[in-house]
Amino acid sequence: MAIARDLVAGSNSAALSSRPHEPIMSQTFGLGIGTQPMSERLKRMRTAALKSVARPMWSLLDPAVDYQSRVLESDLKVRGQDGAVSLDPFPLVQKLTMNLSLQITYGVQMDSTEDSRYQSILKQAAAVTRIQTVTQVWANFIPILMWTPKVRRDIKLAKEAQAYRVAYQADLFSQLVKKIGIGKPPACIAASLLEDREAKLNQDEIDAICRAMLQGGVETIAGSLVGGLGSLSTLAGQKIQATAYRAILDEYGDANAAWADAFSAEKVPYLSALYKECLRFYTVSASGLPHETMRDVNYGCSTIPKGTIVYFNNEAINHDDQFYGDGNVFRPERWLEEPLISTKGLTHVAYGPGPRICPALHISNHIMYAVLMRLILDYRIIADEKAPPVTDGIFFGPGVEGLNKTPYPFKLYFKPRDENAVKRINNKESAGA
Ligand code: HEM
Repeated sequence: MAIARDLVAGSNSAALSSRPHEPIMSQTFGLGIGTQPMSERLKRMRTAALKSVARPMWSLLDPAVDYQSRVLESDLKVRGQDGAVSLDPFPLVQKLTMNLSLQITYGVQMDSTEDSRYQSILKQAAAVTRIQTVTQVWANFIPILMWTPKVRRDIKLAKEAQAYRVAYQADLFSQLVKKIGIGKPPACIAASLLEDREAKLNQDEIDAICRAMLQGGVETIAGSLVGGLGSLSTLAGQKIQATAYRAILDEYGDANAAWADAFSAEKVPYLSALYKECLRFYTVSASGLPHETMRDVNYGCSTIPKGTIVYFNNEAINHDDQFYGDGNVFRPERWLEEPLISTKGLTHVAYGPGPRICPALHISNHIMYAVLMRLILDYRIIADEKAPPVTDGIFFGPGVEGLNKTPYPFKLYFKPRDENAVKRINNKESAGA
């Protein structure tokens, strides 16, 4: 962590802001925000993307998060038969993040009748992630590997995935244009990009930003949240749930008031600590995206030459015992104690370090805070001993090198906390938080 903090805090930071040119990525997916070397065009796109999910937009985007969190709570109750049956939370949380991505990017809400379309979108998103994964992209840097049967097969699949994505994006975009045409523009990222006259984006740029926004949050938020639910479900984790529940009531006095206020500014420090710990401990983007040095970078007595590809080992940095003391322990309290509470600058790298840091970090924090608040208010979460979660910060999911690591499947009981919680959960359809 010390090295990452030094590198991104000092004058070297801007020098690490580029991405390497990746022939496979550009051949298959074109240049998205996350895969583009630094340029004036990218700066404009990044600024527009940041603006579209910045704090002033939240009041417009929150109704989507509110609705999807109600659907999640209701699904957990119905499918878990009021806590009698254990279930794997990942597909349900992934449904929340997938629907949320569609809703906040294009203003569309997918209903259950579109299940096959939804499954296809998920499949294509997974294909994209696979080809972006570090071990799969060696061929980007060692060109001869591009001719191996496996890489050729992956490229073919990726091209099919991209053709599918382009078609459904065009469809979603034309739905949006129609809504704008009849004077009913939904609050969403695409609409805000269209209106952003300062950024002067062309259609390709708007599509590339929307594609990155659709792709960025699905597995990342789901993996971090579900990993955290696994830790909350253990015997030690049930004490964390009790502490969080008490902290919420201490602040609000009443569970209904707290539930309704889940989207306001973060008022419960213990909950903020909890989502940070989920992000840190379950580092879903173990090695992030590659950076390329734009000039020689001097660090200590070494020099990283210009044009070098640099991967940050986010997972190791996030579990660094020298920085955290007990890096491989899930302990939200650490964020409320010294030294972390008064440490300025980078305190975890779940969103990556430095100038290419995830542009959606604040809205992702906001979503995780609200969803955790509601789940803790409404449910007691208990591990199924026959299918318990793997609660190790490194080995919780397959592969250490994946772009997005998701937890191994496990099952939990979601027991509605009390009569009032049942009422809130059953209130799925009512509008507005
Ligand atoms: C818990 C949630 C999330 C995590 C842990 C996460 C993590 C990351 C990481 C590690 C990077 C690479 C940073 C680097 O290069 O150093 C990244 C980039 C990116 N993320 Fe996220 N992300 C999350 C949510 C989202 C969401 C919700 C969106 C879209 C709405 C999004 C869009 C992007 C984009 C567009 C980039 C590329 C930025 C660039 O290259 O300039 N992410 N994210």
